[in-house]
Amino acid sequence: MDKLILQHSPPLRGTVAASGAKNAALPIMAACLLTEEPVVLEGVPRVTDVLTMADILRRLGIRVDHEDERLRIDPNHYTGSTAPYELVSLMRASICVLGPLLARHHRARVSMPGGCILGPRPIDLHLKGLAALGAAIAVEHGDLVATTSGLRGTVIHLAGAFGSSVLATANVMMAATLAQGTTRIEHAACEPEVVDLANFLIAMGATVSGQGTPVIQIDGVPELHGAHYRVIPDRIEVGTLLMATATLGGEVTVTGARGDHVGAVVETLREANVQIEAGEGFLRVRSDRRLNAVEVTTLPFPGFPTDLQAQMMAMMSLSRGVSLMMEKIYPERFMHVPELRRMGAQITHEGGSAIVKGVEQLSGAPVTASDLRASAALVIAGLAAENTTELRGVEHLDRGYERLEEKLAHLGASIRREHDA
Ligand code: EPU
Repeated sequence: MDKLILQHSPPLRGTVAASGAKNAALPIMAACLLTEEPVVLEGVPRVTDVLTMADILRRLGIRVDHEDERLRIDPNHYTGSTAPYELVSLMRASICVLGPLLARHHRARVSMPGGCILGPRPIDLHLKGLAALGAAIAVEHGDLVATTSGLRGTVIHLAGAFGSSVLATANVMMAATLAQGTTRIEHAACEPEVVDLANFLIAMGATVSGQGTPVIQIDGVPELHGAHYRVIPDRIEVGTLLMATATLGGEVTVTGARGDHVGAVVETLREANVQIEAGEGFLRVRSDRRLNAVEVTTLPFPGFPTDLQAQMMAMMSLSRGVSLMMEKIYPERFMHVPELRRMGAQITHEGGSAIVKGVEQLSGAPVTASDLRASAALVIAGLAAENTTELRGVEHLDRGYERLEEKLAHLGASIRREHDA
C-alpha cells in the first residue's frame, strides 16, 4: 500500500495540462460493446477505474490496448456476456456495460453492485429504463440477469429521489441506440459526460439529439460502426487544481480546461475572492489565500458538482468566516470530515449539511482517505497544513486522478509517494 507524504507547501506556480475525464471515458468504453468494429479513443486517463473497465471488456473477449492516453478497443472477438463480481465490486460504473450488452447481444449478466462509502447507491433507474425498453431483468445468485427478444423505443421518465442519474441516463441512451423505433428520455442527466457519450454514439452512427438538456431523443439504428474519438477533459480534476491553488495561493494555468464545464465552480471561487481568467482552452487561477467564506449546494449539472464537495470543504477550512456546504446528491458523503477535523478543521455536520468555521492554520497529521474525492481533499489540506501529513488510502486517489502528485509537485507542492510496508 502506498502513502503520500505531504508537507506545508509554498504558493503553486506554473502550467499543467488537464487529463481526460475518467467519468466520460468509462461509459464510452462500455459503449464500444455496441459495435463489432475497432474504436480508438484519445485522452483516456491512465487511472485504475479505466484499467478495471478494460479488464471487464477483456473478460468479455474484447481486445483492449492502452498506449499512453490512447485506447484501442477491438470488440470483434466478443465471447461472453458476464461482468463478474470480482471486477464489478471494484467499481460501480461497471453497471454501464448492462445496456450495451443487452442491446447488441440481447443478454447480459452483471454482478449487482453493492453498497458504497458514499451511502446507498440504488440502481432502480437503470433497471426501470432498460425494462421500459423491453428487457426482462431478474436477480440470480447476486447477479443481474437481463434478457430481451429485442428492445423497442418508448418514452422513459428517469427522475429519481435525488434528481437525474448520470449513469442511468448513459445506460438507457446506449441501449436505445440499437432499439427499434424512437426513445425519449425525460429528466435525463445534463452532465458534460452524458453529452460526451452522446457525441461518441453519434460518431459511431447513432441518431441522438437533445444531449445536454433534460430530454434526449434516440432514433434506433440497426448497427453502429467503429470510431476515432477524443474524450473531454476532466472537469473534476480541473476543479481540484483550481481549489488547490486557491487554498495554497499562487498562480496556475490549467491547459485543456473547459470553462463551460466548471461554471458553477468558477462562480463560487470568485465569490471566495479567487481570481479566475477563462480563455480559449485554458483557465488561469490566482489566489492570495485571503479566502472568503461561501455557501455551496451540490446539485446536478450545471450546479456545483458533488465530486468537488470534499475539496471545497478543505478550502473552506482555511477561509475567513463561516462557510456552509449542503450536499444534495449524496447526503452521506462526508467521510472526509473526521479526517479534516484531525488536522484542526472546525466542521460540524448533520444530515446532508456541514458548517465549516475557517481556521488560521491546519496542522499536519496521519489521515486516511475513504474515497476518491476525499483523498483529493486531504491532499489539499495536507499541502496547506503546517508540518507533515501522511495520507493513507492512496489507492482511492489512483482510481480517478492521473499523476496528480506529479502535477502538483511540478507546480511546487511538496508531495511524494512512499511504499508503506
Ligand atoms: N440514484 C438513484 N437511483 C439510481 C441511480 C442513482 O436513486 O438508479 C441516485 C443516487 O443514489 C444519487 C443520485 O441519484 O443520489 C445521483 O446519482 P447518479 O446516478 O447520477 O451517480 P452515478 O451515475 O452512479 C456518477 C459519477 C459519480 C458522481 C455522480 C453524480 C461516474 C462513473 N460516476 O455516478 O462520480 O458523483 O455521477 O454526479 O460517472 C466520482 O467520480 O468520484 C464519482 C462518485
